[in-house]
Amino acid sequence: MSTEYQVTDGVAVILLANPPVNGLGYSTRVGIVDSIDRAVKDPEVKGIVLSGSGKAFSGGADMREFNTPEARRDPGLNTVLAAIEDCPKPVVAAIHSVAMGGGLELALACHYRVAVPGAQIALSEVRMGLLPGAGGTQRLPRIIGLERATNMIVTGASVKSEALKDSGLFDRFFDDELLANAATFAREVASRPGPYPRIRDRRVEHPNPEAFLEFVRTSVVAKQPQYPAPQHALQAVHAAVFQKFDEGLAQERRSFLELMEGSVSKSLRHAFFAERTAQKIDDLPNGTALRTIDKVAVLGGGLMGTGIAMCFLNAGFPVKLSETSDELAAKAVGTIRRSYEATVKKGKLSQDVAEKRMALLQAVVGLKNIGDTDLVVEAVFEDMDLKKTLFRELDAVMKKGAILASNTSTLDLDAIADVVSRPADVVGLHFFSPANVMRLLEVVRCAKTAPDVLATSMQIAKRIGKVAVVSGVCDGFIGNRMIAKYGQQAQLLVQQGAYPEEVDRAMESFGMAMGPFRMSDLAGNDISWAIRKRRYAENPSAPRSEVADRLCEAGRFGQKTGAGWYDYKADERKPIPAQAVKELLETYWAEKGVTRRKYSQDEIVQRLIFALVDEGARILEEGIAARASDIDLVYLNGYGFPTWRGGPMFYADTVGLYSVARAMEQGGQAPAALIQSLVAEGGSFIS
Ligand code: NAI
Repeated sequence: MSTEYQVTDGVAVILLANPPVNGLGYSTRVGIVDSIDRAVKDPEVKGIVLSGSGKAFSGGADMREFNTPEARRDPGLNTVLAAIEDCPKPVVAAIHSVAMGGGLELALACHYRVAVPGAQIALSEVRMGLLPGAGGTQRLPRIIGLERATNMIVTGASVKSEALKDSGLFDRFFDDELLANAATFAREVASRPGPYPRIRDRRVEHPNPEAFLEFVRTSVVAKQPQYPAPQHALQAVHAAVFQKFDEGLAQERRSFLELMEGSVSKSLRHAFFAERTAQKIDDLPNGTALRTIDKVAVLGGGLMGTGIAMCFLNAGFPVKLSETSDELAAKAVGTIRRSYEATVKKGKLSQDVAEKRMALLQAVVGLKNIGDTDLVVEAVFEDMDLKKTLFRELDAVMKKGAILASNTSTLDLDAIADVVSRPADVVGLHFFSPANVMRLLEVVRCAKTAPDVLATSMQIAKRIGKVAVVSGVCDGFIGNRMIAKYGQQAQLLVQQGAYPEEVDRAMESFGMAMGPFRMSDLAGNDISWAIRKRRYAENPSAPRSEVADRLCEAGRFGQKTGAGWYDYKADERKPIPAQAVKELLETYWAEKGVTRRKYSQDEIVQRLIFALVDEGARILEEGIAARASDIDLVYLNGYGFPTWRGGPMFYADTVGLYSVARAMEQGGQAPAALIQSLVAEGGSFIS
């Protein structure tokens, strides 16, 4: 049983003991009910304290139990809560560190609650596309008031216990000595006659609940129409105000079950588990020792180098930033300083913290003074000869055991590793722009990368707050290799008679943060043009993106030139459909004998998304990605794929791989062998 039980001076203390966060798994649930029954039977026990051992009161549901029969095994959480609520002896929840989700619902079923400062209090279920399923929506508004409770339930936001000190949630608030103080309090309330107070017997007090709930509906819920959970949560709170407790509870239950079966919650839960799974690297020897990383060097103070340096500064690493001249070094420092200043101005960072970060930064010229750092991340121009030269120099100056990383997007990392005498120390750390903002980091495993270098890279990613996904070496790694196919389909569509704005509109209504043409205008059309020219030279039979090439030949590089697939007004990012592009397309269509036709949103979405899926399948076949959920993480965190659709591979599973393959074949494309074999066996990407 994952609980501990001890009686001292007439008080039974029940401690949840299911590390790391005392999740309410089956054995914990049984443990609570058994302990309550034991305390009720023991004539010596007058009052009961319920708390958590270790670092939490309780973090709620035990995630390890999700999708297993244990999750539904009796006693369910509602049975546990009923045992507490009906207990004839007073039960005091003693809250510290974390009381979230089911953990907070547990505390709400107790007769009294006491707490210490610093505890995170939340009903965070909406973040998983659910709503609190054990009375949270009914009890919280009854005890802390409608407005605060609705805010917490509908957004899932976590609030510090001290901010709720006077909310009514806690009967006593202590500075420390939680368990001793809670026991004293339990003795005090036990001397009062029962029955003891139950939150369910209270009413929600508010002068104008209809108006308030309507305000939340329009200001919060209506702004995220794809997410059904906040809407359901709001309905449940409405029931808490206007219906009997048990009716509200029944409504909450119905919503919970409906959401649990819905695709959005499934997607969000998939994304949550994908993040945990991505950290596992199957073939790493058990107990691989990590290298110590205290000091970091970044080569190149351009767009990426400055962002990468900031990632490390933000996490407290001293950073040496290397450039080729004093002026460029000073310019890079200036870029970083201005970025911090802007954040300070917005009130999102204190001046003091900004200065501490700047104090960790040292600009250097060349490689002379970086030899003592533990990790160097190279982010110079994308030029193979330059990178090879630099890696040879790094080989000469870097201390033994230092990790030599490159941020290259397209170059062959194995070829770079081959120029050093210690290829096992070379790894790719592929950040996404802006590097200090984007959560994704592709950790690129070269043919000779040592296991401890890979494991340390994953740990570094965690330390700098990134979601890391391991990729093998190939052109574009996971993300860019797939996006190239997606981009090619977008190009084909305009070559076959669609307007860029039609394609963008379809993809944005599917939920992509930005359509492919707007995205290309933002990134700079010249960048993909340069890559295409390299590919045409390497492989003259490669498919050509002729319209995009003509666009670049006309100097329409995107937002930076005020003209790309769209026109832009000076200093504005709003895309305006461009007459010049229309003419360019019409000329092209006339030359090729293409008749313009209207493409449905579904057709556009299928062509682009299934191109991603197909390339993802090939990436899996080749072992470039270890699992389909890793690919989804790349797309959710680096490419603006809608979270509520779970990523391209998960989405393909929800459409059904048979339908994916059929649509591809109808469009004249043969699906990847993996898709075909999964269709044959009735399988899916994500088991
Ligand atoms: P950038 O042109 O903005 O910056 C490159 C910087 O490297 C320049 O400031 C240059 O002075 C400096 N540099 C050149 N030779 C150097 C040397 N020997 N020692 C020290 N510094 C030197 O380029 P950007 O965009 O920052 O790209 C850098 C790398 O990151 C490239 O490999 C690129 O493929 C990769 N990358 C770029 C992304 C992007 O969105 N721009 C995204 C992910 C990776």
